[in-house]
Amino acid sequence: MPKLPVYLDNQATTRVDPRVVEAMLPHFTMTYGNAASVSHRFGWEAAEAVDRGREQVARLIGAEAREIILTSGGTESNNLAIKGVLPGLKSRGNHIVTAATEHKSVLDPMKRLGREGWELTVVPPAPDGLVSVDAIAAVLTERTVLVSVMAANNEVGTLNPIAAIGRLCRARGILFHTDAIQAVGKVPLDVNDDSIDLLSLSAHKIYGPKGVGALFVRRRDPPVRLVPLFDGGGHERGFRSGTVAVPLVVGLGEAAALAGQERAEESARILELRERLHAAISGQIPAIHLNGHKTQRLPGNLNLSFAGVDGEALMMAMRDVAVSSGSACTSANPEPSHVLRAIGVTEELTRASLRFGLGRFTTAEEIDFAADTVARAVTRLRAAEAS
Ligand SMILES: Cc1ncc(COP(=O)(O)O)c(C=O)c1O
Repeated sequence: MPKLPVYLDNQATTRVDPRVVEAMLPHFTMTYGNAASVSHRFGWEAAEAVDRGREQVARLIGAEAREIILTSGGTESNNLAIKGVLPGLKSRGNHIVTAATEHKSVLDPMKRLGREGWELTVVPPAPDGLVSVDAIAAVLTERTVLVSVMAANNEVGTLNPIAAIGRLCRARGILFHTDAIQAVGKVPLDVNDDSIDLLSLSAHKIYGPKGVGALFVRRRDPPVRLVPLFDGGGHERGFRSGTVAVPLVVGLGEAAALAGQERAEESARILELRERLHAAISGQIPAIHLNGHKTQRLPGNLNLSFAGVDGEALMMAMRDVAVSSGSACTSANPEPSHVLRAIGVTEELTRASLRFGLGRFTTAEEIDFAADTVARAVTRLRAAEAS
């Protein structure tokens, strides 16, 4: 029996890797200086730690350290990318493009800009969640200045063809932003190979601490100009004022370094566990629908709808397994999943959906326990419904 409850919500957040915690600790109590203090050793040591973290982040995505702006997390990175880049593009056009399956931290800034006079196109995905190059190409105009498409979806795990979308945008002289918060450290990514101009990432999805992230901003070919969202002390070369959270940046850097070293092997192991979970559940109960793409998906994501079962009731019936549901009331957002709606999942199957998120610390024993627990709960709820 595994230690309970079993955590299978790794797309919501991940446990901090003990090696990351270890790396962070001295920066709370020993090298606790302000990285902007240039007049003493406490400051110099803090600045060195920040530089190292920035290097580690840059290396993970094939960028240069000076192309990395440190932020408070994915939400800020997405907002800074979108709201920061558009003022400089006004003279070139007024059309911006994103996809209906994006995270709210991309969709909502885009919609706000749409209300403020930018012409916004929200591209619908295919039923498997894919945002195709053709779908993006079909909406581009002479006036398009920015395209934002996520690398991997946080709910259904679908991986988008971002290298192809990047190439398309580059050829048309359009800037390309990708929310890579779920993809970084899980699938191969390189800002040059993939023609990415702006890329958002977040530490807490890669076994680092919450409250820190980064935005990659291309410096050349083409150089991307940003205006800051915050004014203040001029930190991060003026693009993100506010004292840099040194221990968190050290954690982000260490998490990025570990992700770089372990990604290939880890993703293969996690994929095998996901297939084991899927097979074990489908082997025990009928009428299951897979949401998202069959193969082109995050290794650690399995999103299933159990026909005839209410997702909330199902989660209540399996309290020893921590997952999330596409129905309302399971997140900070009280709406049912906009992602499942966008890919055409019926309201009934949206209510019946569960997202299983596997990660670095997931074991085969936990997967077997989770599969049996789910199968038992679904069978019981279906029998209750039928009687
Ligand atoms: C795809 C995606 N984008 C953005 C975010 C927001 O990141 P953060 O929690 O670091 O603000 C998340 C996490 O919930 C996410 O999964």
